[in-house]
Amino acid sequence: MRIVSGIQPSGRLHLGNYLGMMRPAIAAQNEGETFYFIANYHALTTVSDPSALRRNTRAAAIDFLACGLNPDRGALFVQSDVPAVTELTWLLSVITGMGLLERCHSYKDKLAKGVASTHALFAYPVLMAADILAYRADSVPVGRDQKQHVEVTRDIAMRFNNLFGDVFAIPQPVIRDDVAVVPGIDGQKMSKSYNNHIELFGTEKDTRARIMRIVTDSTPLEAPKDPEQCTVFRIFRLISDDDQIEEMAERYRNGGFGYGAAKKQLFDAVWSFLEPLHRRRAELEKEPDFVDGVLRRGAERARAEADSVLGAARRAMGVD
Ligand code: TYM
Repeated sequence: MRIVSGIQPSGRLHLGNYLGMMRPAIAAQNEGETFYFIANYHALTTVSDPSALRRNTRAAAIDFLACGLNPDRGALFVQSDVPAVTELTWLLSVITGMGLLERCHSYKDKLAKGVASTHALFAYPVLMAADILAYRADSVPVGRDQKQHVEVTRDIAMRFNNLFGDVFAIPQPVIRDDVAVVPGIDGQKMSKSYNNHIELFGTEKDTRARIMRIVTDSTPLEAPKDPEQCTVFRIFRLISDDDQIEEMAERYRNGGFGYGAAKKQLFDAVWSFLEPLHRRRAELEKEPDFVDGVLRRGAERARAEADSVLGAARRAMGVD
């Protein structure tokens, strides 16, 4: 089985990225051959500062390794190190209907948020389709916000195969229900662009401050509370084991447990969960040659695969 996914280096990664995509992607290394990349060409649609993009691209790769990605079990690389993907994007564009792209929520959301309306922003899902199809992905672990993009990829691949013969594998999005939409500190989907995120590698002070700012309702301290309605609990349950979850849920239901105390308990859980990752990350920062080697080997592996798929697509279309 082939497993492919990417992450944009449009800022520092957050708990939503980790729980929604990185943790399942790392676990999937036991199930098949993995191709994971840092999507710097996608990030160009919203990031215009070259040094920030360069810095965040490398930081995201180190983050992925610090979170437990095993570079011996799959390729980790930077999207732009595989030129065949952008070439494939053109071949796929030729058969992608405007209507298919016009329906994409992510494009409409970004326009609503004031992102400049460019051809690249509109064509973003075609580049993503090329990313996925170039490595013959069977499965694509993502959060729910990326589901439509994987469905667009399936449509494009099926259309191509119908017109030109079976070149592409048809991928499946793999979305874990419990972490499909990790809430941010305001209860909406955690996202850097809503500024409601908890960074994976933020400082202890910043992490605590963010958690203490989680929005809660005005139920008095002594009143019983429904844990499911509370963002503090909804985040806590994603990083805790069954006993810890049940214990906290009981406290909510019994009353006499205030949101301040819940937030403190959440911070302790988040921090004890993040601390080992921070330690590993600090070690990796001291080994730039190791990181370079991982990304170089990953790109070589990815190029071999993408070149072969691109060759098949070109032959099928008559541009060989
Ligand atoms: P990106 O960089 O926005 O997010 C990376 C991954 O994190 C997931 N995610 C979340 N999951 C649950 N809850 C949240 N609050 C949350 N926030 C983010 C996203 O669903 C995603 O899986 N277009 C992609 C990057 C990409 C890609 C690809 C993905 C480029 N090419 C090919 C898969 C396959 C993106 O912008 O993800």
